[in-house]
Amino acid sequence: MVGFDLEAGKIEHLLGHDNFTLHRKSIDEAVADGSMQEAVAWADVVVNLAAICNPYEYAIRPSAVIKSSLFDALPIVDLCCELNTWLIQFSTCEVYGRTVSSYVPEEGYSDPDLYVQSESRTPLVMGPVSKQRWCYASAKQTLERYVYALGFERQMPFTIIRPYNFFGPRMDFIPGRDGTGIPRVLACFITALLDDEPLLLVDGGTARRTITSIHDAIDAMMAMFDRPHAATGQIFNIGADGNELTISELAHRMREIYADVSCDPRKRNLPILNVTGEEFYGKGGYEDCDRRVIDSTNATSLLGWSAKIGIDEILRETISYYYEIYADKTAVATR
Ligand code: UGA
Repeated sequence: MVGFDLEAGKIEHLLGHDNFTLHRKSIDEAVADGSMQEAVAWADVVVNLAAICNPYEYAIRPSAVIKSSLFDALPIVDLCCELNTWLIQFSTCEVYGRTVSSYVPEEGYSDPDLYVQSESRTPLVMGPVSKQRWCYASAKQTLERYVYALGFERQMPFTIIRPYNFFGPRMDFIPGRDGTGIPRVLACFITALLDDEPLLLVDGGTARRTITSIHDAIDAMMAMFDRPHAATGQIFNIGADGNELTISELAHRMREIYADVSCDPRKRNLPILNVTGEEFYGKGGYEDCDRRVIDSTNATSLLGWSAKIGIDEILRETISYYYEIYADKTAVATR
């Protein structure tokens, strides 16, 4: 296996493996020196995971987000097309944008056709250009359309994956420990729990997300490698149907589980506070995705895959991992 990345912090344990070579360089550099062409020509499959996938970055440097998620990826897509190498493109469930239901609030969520997300039927509904949070979703959508077009015009073998909030160990960064800035919700709440700070709910925490274990996600990838003919030419939602909850519910559950894992009942009393989108993401606020309810029949029928791991198990594993590596355990022991 050959990888390209500027950083190796999350995969240090793999670096000495006989079957793995990492090139520490950007896509631009790898294309310029020919190492990318060599790798794509040699590979049976190319998995493109490169992107800036962090809502705070959508607010503060949207042009870099668009560049990394769309333009930087184009040489890889073109190489796969030229060399007829199977491309697995990681997109995002965020390409669905807001649900149609969210625009007809008087209907509530009474009609599943207006909010359940199906790869082949659901429209992709994004807000105005001035709401910069859509820069990532629209860049990813354009890349999906480009990949799909090359499949149609030039028979490029491809698979597009739309992940639903993958959670697990080594996910994201923890500010002040292994990164700076504002990460995604899982890491924000873990940071608050580690540091005895309030957990912040943006706009009341009413938005809903479907949380998926990284282990289920990896199983989905393995199912694709096992069934390349079933996987090519397809778009797959990859997520855990039963694991939908509000961000407020997520905060409460994480606080409970953290208290259990750390044997520190005080954590149950950490405040959970409301903040506005403007306070959290800066001027312009944040036009949020209201719900991400997955229809995963495509993955089940073509790959024989469905997610198995429930939300509490996902949170316990992930919280335990971060607690082990970053918590100040002396503080609990001395109390
Ligand atoms: C992000 C990306 O934009 C998606 O493309 C990607 O699929 C997804 O992460 C993912 O992890 O798979 P999103 O779920 O909106 O999407 O990102 P988060 O930053 O994790 O936010 C989730 C929700 O929690 C949002 O409503 C956000 O406003 C809220 N939030 C975040 C809080 O209430 N408090 C926080 O401290 C952080």
